Amino acid sequence: MDTPSLVLVFAALLTAIALTEPVAQAIRLPASVVLAATGVGVGLIASLLIYGGLVPPDASIALFFADPPISSDLFIYVFLPTLLFHSALGMDMHQLADDAVPVLLLAVIAVVLATLVIGLALWPVSGVPLVACLLLGCVVATTDPVAVIGIFKDVGAPERLVRLVEGESLLNDAAAITMFVVFTAILTQVTALDGTVVALDFVVIPLGGALVGFVVARAFAGLIAFVGDNRLVEVSLSLALPYLVYPVAEQIFHLSGVIAVVTAGLTLASTGPARMTPAAWKYLKGIWDQLAFWASTLIFLLAAILIPRLIGGITWFDGVALVVLVIASLVARWLILFVVMPLLAAAKWSPPVSRDYRLVILWGGLRGAATLALALAVTENQAMPAEVTRFVAVLATGFTLFTMLVQGLTMRPLMKSLGLNRLTPVDEVLRDQAIAVAYTRVADRIEKSAEAFRLDAPLTEAAVATYRARGRSARNAADGASVLSLDDRIALGLVAIAGREREIVLSHAGDGTVSAELVERLLAEARSRIDGARLKGRAGYTAAAAEAIAFTWRDRLAYRLHRVFGYDRLLARRLADRTEELLLHRIVLEELAPFARDDIGPVFGAEVQDAIEAALDERRADVERGLDALRLQYPDYARALETRFLERLGLAVELTEVTALAENGLINAEVERDLLQEVASGQLRAAARPALDLGLDTRALVDRQPLFAGFGPAERAALAQALRPVFVYPGHRLIRKGERGDAAYLISSGAVEVDTGRAVFRLGRGDVVGEMALLTGQPRSGDVTALGFCALLRLGKADFDRVLEGNPALKRTVEEIAEERGRVNREG
Ligand code: CMP
Repeated sequence: MDTPSLVLVFAALLTAIALTEPVAQAIRLPASVVLAATGVGVGLIASLLIYGGLVPPDASIALFFADPPISSDLFIYVFLPTLLFHSALGMDMHQLADDAVPVLLLAVIAVVLATLVIGLALWPVSGVPLVACLLLGCVVATTDPVAVIGIFKDVGAPERLVRLVEGESLLNDAAAITMFVVFTAILTQVTALDGTVVALDFVVIPLGGALVGFVVARAFAGLIAFVGDNRLVEVSLSLALPYLVYPVAEQIFHLSGVIAVVTAGLTLASTGPARMTPAAWKYLKGIWDQLAFWASTLIFLLAAILIPRLIGGITWFDGVALVVLVIASLVARWLILFVVMPLLAAAKWSPPVSRDYRLVILWGGLRGAATLALALAVTENQAMPAEVTRFVAVLATGFTLFTMLVQGLTMRPLMKSLGLNRLTPVDEVLRDQAIAVAYTRVADRIEKSAEAFRLDAPLTEAAVATYRARGRSARNAADGASVLSLDDRIALGLVAIAGREREIVLSHAGDGTVSAELVERLLAEARSRIDGARLKGRAGYTAAAAEAIAFTWRDRLAYRLHRVFGYDRLLARRLADRTEELLLHRIVLEELAPFARDDIGPVFGAEVQDAIEAALDERRADVERGLDALRLQYPDYARALETRFLERLGLAVELTEVTALAENGLINAEVERDLLQEVASGQLRAAARPALDLGLDTRALVDRQPLFAGFGPAERAALAQALRPVFVYPGHRLIRKGERGDAAYLISSGAVEVDTGRAVFRLGRGDVVGEMALLTGQPRSGDVTALGFCALLRLGKADFDRVLEGNPALKRTVEEIAEERGRVNREG
């Protein structure tokens, strides 16, 4: 085809996909169904024109649509990476890490189970080898989550559920394609395959792919940080990443390109925001949204155009196989939803999902672009036996059509009959209450403005009357319906306040006062508060809030690395993260207070307002406690972070001011550019967080220790050799009563509590602890627990003995301390 025709075809395709969405909305059908129908129609008409002799056989445009010159390579190397990379970019790594177990289980188990069930069910009826049936099984195993997720969002399903399904669909594509590659290899290889080699492939190919994706993405993230704030360059780099990673993993290393692309996307999603300005990241995501829209709709349309060709020559026999396929795939999905999911929920790995939702997910398992692309890849493969090609092409296409036409078109009726599309009585009351508040406010505003503009009073009253009346009737309706218990209303109020919190966090993100990484974490936490309040009301909210500021496995890991290997960088980072996060919690909580008063109160009532204010107070107290503990140990650091926050806030205000001045024509473009450049460089400077110094330099700690006041420099240096700095978290049990003594500690900062079982003592900076067991050989005389963050100097038993032998004066002091403590303990 000549270039002008090609351009014309491309423009026509773009117009078609652009119009699909509005048309689908107008005739109330899923967009994918409209798109598929368009494609099939175009393919049929073009075939009729060409083969019916209505146009000359060399009419290039008709020929294009009758027999599109699209190879499966186009799908595999262009469309697939685009789609996978885009969904990976949208994943919330923190959340995904939290839900890694259920998502992985669901993704991998669902695909393997579907492949097995479908393969085994078809084997007896199909007349092709088992491997071919399994190949078909994995081709149709990947579902297209768009339809289900759209419905979830419509009915306001818990966000965690949406996340699970999204995460599952991303990884199940990867899992299915990995299996697809292996089965294809078995079918096209002449020599028999070694079972262990195949098994190894299942491990090495995906893991190796993940490694390639991760390494390349990290390198690109470095490049992005290096180029500075230039979004055109950054987006170009992000665009190059998947198309580079895919062939590199596939062609050069013979690893899974799909998994490499997914990993690269996830890696960029977690490292990118920290290396770009929030605006640039948003821009990048916007571009990717656009690309993914084109890719997914084009792939669909082109594949649909191919359907008449793929499915031509279908027989009765195929019809029977198709019925078996439909039943087997529903059974496989049923097993996942009604057997595996409840097990996961019972193990508390996933949130419980209601039966109605699971029915919707079962029926909503539409197949889409990925299945068609894989089927096409089979037909393109010359080495594939002909009967297998036909079998896979016909059944995969037929099945995709079935899911789209039969399941897709009955989704809404199904939801209607399950009552999932109606507002629940609770939501109805809520709506009425919200309407009442909104209309009353509108009326108030109109009255105020009318007064300010000195408008005619009777006219104003007339204008306001309808709003007042509507507000009153909504209020009456809400009051009349007593479906809501106080607990329900509190839960709803908490959901609202957690939602408001997300908005506040986002506005900080927009100002650039908070790093993108922290924004993501805060958003995720607000989301789990929403889920908590939805599922368990006040208790759920409080639990989620407490979890957000509790120490996590990351803290424990950082701590272990410090204790075992003396590696401190991660620990310092975690503490800095914690300080920053707590500071931000405090700021956000301050901003939430007026919302609870002015918005929650009027809509939900005074009792709810009280309960919510109490919940917020509780959170505030927790946050303050956490901050106090950190401040006690690192007073300068918390201050430095606050200063930085103010700096960033200043820059944000400066930015809006400059823009406003330019918009109002008070400064010209040159001046504006100059000022903006200044702001941008300020923002870049303020983007780097000051490092937290753990203050664990042994020598400095020795110098600060009053016990060693009389020591000379040489003695101190020798001491520093024997002592090891140790950092502990609040609540850490340093010494356990009754154990054998292995070390003594000098408290450099912070405080510990000694509990001898009969009395409790508090020891602080400069005190020694754990010396008694070493001196007397007796078991530990009490439990010793850190009260806050502490820096200690640890002296192992052998060093303890040696140091005391060498310093009689010190030995005497320590012995006196121990004796005095022993006396106190004996006397009780
Ligand atoms: P040890 O017996 O090795 O372990 C528990 C430690 O608690 C003990 O050493 C002392 O360092 C400390 N300890 C025990 N009793 C007292 C006390 N009465 N006052 C202060 N510290 C004590």
